Amino acid sequence: MFQNLKEQPADKILALMDLYKADDRPNKIDLGVGVYKNAEGITPVMRAVKAAEQKIWETQDSKAYTGLAGDPVYSDVMISLVLGGAVPRDHVSAVATPGGTGAVRQAFELIKMATPGARVFVSDPTWPNHLTILKYLGMESVPYRYFDSNTGGVDFDGMMADLGGLKAGDVVLLHGCCHNPTGANLNLTEWKQVIARLNEVGAVPMIDIAYQGFGDGLDDDAAAVRLVASSVPECLIAASCSKNFGIYRERTGLLMAVAQDKALGKVTQGNLAFLNRQNFSFPPDHGARIVSTILTDEALTAEWKTELEEVRLSMLGLREQLASELQRLSGSDRFGFLAQHRGMFSRLGCSSEQVETLRRDHAIYMVGDSRMNIAGLNKATVPLLAKAIIDAGI
Ligand code: LMR
Repeated sequence: MFQNLKEQPADKILALMDLYKADDRPNKIDLGVGVYKNAEGITPVMRAVKAAEQKIWETQDSKAYTGLAGDPVYSDVMISLVLGGAVPRDHVSAVATPGGTGAVRQAFELIKMATPGARVFVSDPTWPNHLTILKYLGMESVPYRYFDSNTGGVDFDGMMADLGGLKAGDVVLLHGCCHNPTGANLNLTEWKQVIARLNEVGAVPMIDIAYQGFGDGLDDDAAAVRLVASSVPECLIAASCSKNFGIYRERTGLLMAVAQDKALGKVTQGNLAFLNRQNFSFPPDHGARIVSTILTDEALTAEWKTELEEVRLSMLGLREQLASELQRLSGSDRFGFLAQHRGMFSRLGCSSEQVETLRRDHAIYMVGDSRMNIAGLNKATVPLLAKAIIDAGI
């Protein structure tokens, strides 16, 4: 049997992690995988997470199964964190999933069950795993223009022109905030135009929100999701706690489905639980319990928000430092977009050869499409990156 298997192409983000590990140059800089690192290059366990784990350890008296949808308290706190009361609670069904990727996967499966043959419109570029999961599930993806590499901003005209090809029942995958891989985001006026287009044609939005709190703050980052959810008949939302709670390896995500009414919400809830049962049965609980322990405790919530804000501001500071260093070295404003981008990533917009030059000559690792993880920098490495960018002729 196994002789029938073919080698799978390497995931380009994960392959880069291996290349970086194998490089023994002491001054190497990792701007690859999307993991937050502090100024010392460490991905710390957040203080509130440590405290929540201690509380769980002291009080938890069973590890018996929760439910197929996970612990309802976790769903409640996450629905309120993401949707903030924008839609009636009983229109929202939700299941805990293994990470944000698990939520994305279950969302695609639900789409396929509900509308076999539905096309999923995805931004060009998008997180590569969106495309590979769709392909693996035999679902059709249709790219829509998104990034303008000349300005470093969103090609909104191109995007709207491509969304002109939508048909009723199609799904449009949107990034709720902190677009991965580009860092370029729609403003609220643009979101309203996208919503109008979706409603005009009867297409369904699916929002992937993996970086809430990393852009402009917890509520600002959720503003688009809330606007969409309250303006369309139905939508899907895949949320991740990996980044904003720093619990990457705990695999903590939530898939939410907003239905038109309570009755449809109930049927959707049953289907989501069914999908969990088929794919992995009960979702992991430890990360979800950390999140619910924090968000049901005022002091822990305050501690978590303070630390998340420190993380957000540190990335913003690095963006500003990099943009101003590049302005100084290049004598132009052409890298100003780096300070405008939000979240963990920015797409530099250079060629894959230039990315390779940065790796070969400067030991700087970014994804081949020139996506860099801003959190992989610190105050001392920003000038080195800026100089390398200019030296590489970017
Ligand atoms: C990334 O885009 O780097 C992260 O979301 C990690 C991953 O799984 O790819």
